[in-house]
Amino acid sequence: MRTKITIAGAGQTGATLAHWLALRGDVDIVLYDIVEGMPQGKALDLQQAMPIIGSDARIVGTNEWGPTEGSAIVVITSGMPRKPGMSRDDLLKVNAEIVQSVTRNAVALSPDAILMLLTNPLDAMCHIALHVSGFPPERVFGQAGILDTARFRAFLAMETGYSVAEINAYVLGGHGDDMVPLIGCTSIGGVPVSNLIPSDRLEAIVERTRKGGGEIVSLLKTGSAFYAPSAALAQMIDAVLNDRKRILPCSVYTGDNGGGYGVSELYLGLPAVIGRNGVEQIVPMELTPDEQEALQKSASSVRELVNALRNFDPPMLP
Ligand code: 2OP
Repeated sequence: MRTKITIAGAGQTGATLAHWLALRGDVDIVLYDIVEGMPQGKALDLQQAMPIIGSDARIVGTNEWGPTEGSAIVVITSGMPRKPGMSRDDLLKVNAEIVQSVTRNAVALSPDAILMLLTNPLDAMCHIALHVSGFPPERVFGQAGILDTARFRAFLAMETGYSVAEINAYVLGGHGDDMVPLIGCTSIGGVPVSNLIPSDRLEAIVERTRKGGGEIVSLLKTGSAFYAPSAALAQMIDAVLNDRKRILPCSVYTGDNGGGYGVSELYLGLPAVIGRNGVEQIVPMELTPDEQEALQKSASSVRELVNALRNFDPPMLP
């Protein structure tokens, strides 16, 4: 039997993810959206591209939940994107309501699925999906760290002219402006990045990475980034489908032991082993005192949003 993957939200990110996944040829893709005709039209267009690229992917577009039944993975991209001048946090209430409803409908028909979140503000939305689904946290996680790390790596490649393949880096923390690029763990061809790039340039690259999503929002004027976010989701899906045990920075639930980072019961971007079962382990990394402090600050920003969800009337989280 082929694996079914549902993508909830057939906007730019959802449809581009469908495109990346269709290139694999080994999955059935269900593109769900509330906008009438839109997921059907995009799915049909994509299906008609398959003979050209030689892929046996099957793509269905729908406004109903029925066709999503039995999905192995449900990706939630549904929600409002940012407009220029807005932060991801400005989307909290409206997107929490959307994620609540999408999660409820999706898990009713796919009770064994893995849920991957993309909707912003990402880490807070993971809390909503965890609560509404009742799933174990290893089956509910979010995409952000791969994207933030990819932005950092792309800027380092643009700065130095070296291949992106030579650049190792991690960006941890919440998916917000105080995310934490780990300079100490960043190397190019095994050489510490601070030996290759002057500190003022490196600081500018870190700042550009932190504001990377906003930079694209201001350029696009309507909507936010979608190629890189969807490529990151495709990498997470590939890690699950092939049980790759890749160590990928994802928004994961730290549980009561703090995930080894001293941050308990919070979704936060941390390196995690991703395999067939979803999040199989949070990988403890050695952080410098500055990085540890920055991670705590980033965690506090996420916690503020989670508390705001608890303080809505009616509360959206217990
Ligand atoms: C970004 O950073 C959409 O949050 C996403 O571009």
